[in-house]
Amino acid sequence: MNEATTSPQQLAQQAAEVLLEKTSQDGFDVAVVLGSGWRPAADVLTENAVDLQEFPMSDLPGFLPPTAQGHGGTVRSGVIAGQRVLVLLGRTHAYEGHELWRTAHAVRTAAAAGVSTVVLTNAAGGLIEGMQVGEPVLINDHINFTAKTPLSGANFVNLVDAYSPELRRRAENLRPGIREAVYAMMPGPQYETPAEIHMLRTLGAGLVGMSTVYETIAAREANMDVLGISLVTNLAAGMTGEALNHEEVLEAGKNAAQDMGELLRELVGTL
Ligand code: HPA
Repeated sequence: MNEATTSPQQLAQQAAEVLLEKTSQDGFDVAVVLGSGWRPAADVLTENAVDLQEFPMSDLPGFLPPTAQGHGGTVRSGVIAGQRVLVLLGRTHAYEGHELWRTAHAVRTAAAAGVSTVVLTNAAGGLIEGMQVGEPVLINDHINFTAKTPLSGANFVNLVDAYSPELRRRAENLRPGIREAVYAMMPGPQYETPAEIHMLRTLGAGLVGMSTVYETIAAREANMDVLGISLVTNLAAGMTGEALNHEEVLEAGKNAAQDMGELLRELVGTL
């Protein structure tokens, strides 16, 4: 197989074939994408899963080998509440310098494996006064401040209701009063300036982060239903007078992992 002459969709098809063979499944129903700090939430989500398996993403075509500094991503599979669930632990970020199709490869692989519902989770800065660290927020729309796309060619994918109103309604039933907000994707990896946050707030964003949007675009291209959930790990730059740091983001993720895992498990139970 040659990545240079294979389209992203063909590569995802190949990855899906290896995935189905490795897991001895004939398809999957749901995929949940979790950022690198989310392993504890994955453990809660898959607590009572049947036929649980886990292996490195890099076993599948098109996924990058683990870096020297960190662990590579893993794929976990299992049956939860009758749904064949793929948990994708760890994602490829554009700010790491990779080609953009890589950021969408996991979602496209899930689509090629039959997945029709994808749950995209992330850590985000909160832009709305009163938001609390550790609060889950449903993404109801996004603004792509990177001005880039994982699509190629004249591929006019509709993004109206990209974040499924029906899936949001289910989440709202499980967590009455859960907030919804517009997610602004910034290129990163630097955090925003207070002036940039002021701009984003003025334009209607309620969350800011550096992921998810390309995955949503690829998922909608593949006609999957998308639910986006941000965990507010900090208030955005300039809102508290404090500096931002990655450690506080990871810490907030760890502290909320139990709650997020339970929410994800309950959600899968409604599908
Ligand atoms: N900005 C961008 N990305 C983030 C933030 C933030 O404040 N918090 C977590 N991810």
